[in-house]
Amino acid sequence: MKRFLSIVMATVLFSSLAAWGSSAKEEATESAEAHSDVLVAYFSATGTTKGVAEKIASVTGGDLYEILAAEPYTSDDLNYNDSSSRSTSEQNDKNVRPEIGSEDISLEGYTTVYLGYPIWWGEEPRILDTFVEKYSFEGITVIPFCTSGGSGVGRSGSNMEELAGTGTWLDGERFSGNVSEEDLKDWIEGLK
Ligand SMILES: Cc1cc2nc3c(=O)[nH]c(=O)nc-3n(C[C@H](O)[C@H](O)[C@H](O)COP(=O)(O)O)c2cc1C
Repeated sequence: MKRFLSIVMATVLFSSLAAWGSSAKEEATESAEAHSDVLVAYFSATGTTKGVAEKIASVTGGDLYEILAAEPYTSDDLNYNDSSSRSTSEQNDKNVRPEIGSEDISLEGYTTVYLGYPIWWGEEPRILDTFVEKYSFEGITVIPFCTSGGSGVGRSGSNMEELAGTGTWLDGERFSGNVSEEDLKDWIEGLK
């Protein structure tokens, strides 16, 4: 009887472990398949780029990832009339790499990354340099987009491409904050 009971218990234990193992495998496969192959990653200090990023995500069905600064930018930090403000001094030093505060993201499964940012002193904010140096864009098409008070993308795309060292980088595009989803759709169609 004792022997019979231990065989029954061992069978129950084995089958429940096997069931757990297969459901864990299914979950892993589901989460790898669950996300879109398009990621819209962006940094936005005052919300303009964020709005455009959300429209691109809506048009493409892409996932959104916000690059947040570990130390958020205050309005004093963003004062471009102050030659000693944080943003001005960061932009004056190509080697500064502000720390990212948002959770790390895995780029596995993404084939296209739209990368958005505001133009600061004609270039990408240095935190974008932190981002592109942190991740590998191997096998990924990276499409820079920016917002600004009027300046174009300038050298921001090629700066980041050089720093990243991986990925297929397309020419960047500048948008105003109130660009329509229709215009964004046309731009995206034109990239293909
Ligand atoms: C520090 C700083 C520097 C800027 N430099 C420029 C610039 O060189 N050319 C320009 O057209 N706009 C410039 N702007 C304006 C921003 O690019 C514009 O307001 C942008 O849409 C803000 O995006 P965000 O709200 O996503 O941060 C600058 C803004 C800041 C805060």
